[in-house]
Amino acid sequence: MNIQIFDDVRTLSAELATRVLTEVRLQPSLVLGLPTGRTPLPFYQALRAAPAADWSLVRTFNLDEFAGVSPGSPASYRAYMQRELFGPMGVADENVGFLNGTAADLDAECARYERAIAAAGGIDLMILGIGANGHIGFNEPGPDLHARTHRAQLQPGTRASNAALFGGDVSRVPESALSMGMATILQSKAVVLIATGAAKAGVVRAMMNGRITTSVPASFLQLHPCVTVMLDREAASRR
Ligand code: GLP
Repeated sequence: MNIQIFDDVRTLSAELATRVLTEVRLQPSLVLGLPTGRTPLPFYQALRAAPAADWSLVRTFNLDEFAGVSPGSPASYRAYMQRELFGPMGVADENVGFLNGTAADLDAECARYERAIAAAGGIDLMILGIGANGHIGFNEPGPDLHARTHRAQLQPGTRASNAALFGGDVSRVPESALSMGMATILQSKAVVLIATGAAKAGVVRAMMNGRITTSVPASFLQLHPCVTVMLDREAASRR
């Protein structure tokens, strides 16, 4: 893993925005994998503030979405992305790949997503956050992991960390979600994982230096040949 440590979140986010914009200029039809959560917010802000780039050919696939939450709901990850990136950057709906948590058949929806990613030629650059329990996307720790896009049961801590999207009420956070699988993520040509804040320091250490284990799904990134881990000083403090 290529480790980059930054003085603060702002510098990290600016550097990642520069990398993404450089790749968009070099490859206008870049296929990007994108995360939600609190960690990427300053990165999306940095992209919005950057000099204009042509996003008309860029295609995106987000990692995950809540089951039972419609794309039009303000609590959906789809709405988060529209607010933070797609709207401001003018990414057209037809270039946005997203899981629909209210599809009539969720298993068919997961299969459709895998086909859509394959038809796009796979993901060129996958940007990831990491859950405090080591999840990536909604691939939660457990006795086994899913290779492909699937329906995932969310752990209590994961639901709690997503409560802000549901008015701070954990009971309103769905108990399940749809998520890219581990192979879907690991088949991306390049991966960048971002983690900030002291609360992530322990899991960052386990991800980078611990054994590869389903108890820390992000530890499987050790198997990928092209991973960059971007950390602020606090997240890097226990390496
Ligand atoms: C969420 C998302 C993940 C995200 C992670 C970390 O539940 N499903 O894709 O990376 O948890 O979130 P945060 O950045 O808010 O800590």
